[in-house]
Amino acid sequence: MYRRWLVVGAKGMLGHDLVSRIAAGGYDVLAVDRDEIDITDPQSVDAVVGGVDVVVNVAAFTAVDKAEEQEAVAFAVNATGPEILARRCKSIGARLVHISTDYVFGGESNEPYAEDEILTPCGAYGRTKAAGEWAVRTYTDDYLIVRTAWLYGRYGHSFPATMKALAQTHASIDVVTDEVGQPTWTVDLADLIVRLVDSNVPSGIYHGTSSGETNWNGFARAIMESIGKDPTIIKETTAAAFDRPAPRPHYSVLSHDTLRAVGVEPIGNWLERWRIASPIVLGTGA
Ligand SMILES: NC(=O)c1ccc[n+]([C@@H]2O[C@H](COP(=O)([O-])OP(=O)(O)OC[C@H]3O[C@@H](n4cnc5c(N)ncnc54)[C@H](OP(=O)(O)O)[C@@H]3O)[C@@H](O)[C@H]2O)c1
Repeated sequence: MYRRWLVVGAKGMLGHDLVSRIAAGGYDVLAVDRDEIDITDPQSVDAVVGGVDVVVNVAAFTAVDKAEEQEAVAFAVNATGPEILARRCKSIGARLVHISTDYVFGGESNEPYAEDEILTPCGAYGRTKAAGEWAVRTYTDDYLIVRTAWLYGRYGHSFPATMKALAQTHASIDVVTDEVGQPTWTVDLADLIVRLVDSNVPSGIYHGTSSGETNWNGFARAIMESIGKDPTIIKETTAAAFDRPAPRPHYSVLSHDTLRAVGVEPIGNWLERWRIASPIVLGTGA
């Protein structure tokens, strides 16, 4: 049913692995990024988006700190862009898969956020992504909003590569313990997106994160183990020690109830998945 795919934002961290996964599934996939399309421009979207069954929007303004100063620019990409894509998808009869974030929640909870929790966005980035969700839900009725968090992958900047680089030059590294979440491999999220579309699940909000939870310090220690470094070089600190423009959610854990309700298996435990991912993500495999 969904044979022809279009991935918008294909050169990003998630986009790379998503295009590979779709192609491996035997589907036709057209991959575009900023060189070919500007999602904030309706004419550009009309020219590129057509003749497909499903559009996956992984394009976004993802620089959380920069968004504090450039909220209007972030809003154009993270909210107006999804509106334009949703309108276009509706007019051509394509399903829209839109990727969102844990930052639509404030992170003050201490239990996993349900898919239908009221949005309480964290910072400018979170506000623009929350508006993007509303836009998608307003302008098409054939959509999947897939919220993810703490993504890492082989492409682009990600936490494991940063930790690996720091471990080459530092005897100790301070990493926060008071931000809790679910490290999620882009390959696993790409696979989940394809499984959701394959299963023809109902329109709605789904959470695309690993199972279980840890904090950044725990993830950093797991990364040290993977590269053969002593995990005790990772020291404990708190977010208050860092002067960053944007607030960070303290608790980003997302529940997977709507996945289970439609019979789609959530991504596995974050640590088990990291052990499989690490040689590929860090380029240390055979
Ligand atoms: N990374 C995470 O930890 C994380 C966590 C939660 C949710 N997410 C969400 O997951 C999705 C994918 O994230 P990612 O980390 O893979 O993003 P990414 O690496 O920043 O890739 C986003 C891509 O979108 C492109 N783009 C930006 N503005 C565009 C526009 N106006 N028109 C067309 N393309 C445009 C970017 O091009 P340029 O590079 O040229 O700007 C980039 O290639 C996003 O929706 C993000 O909000 C990510």
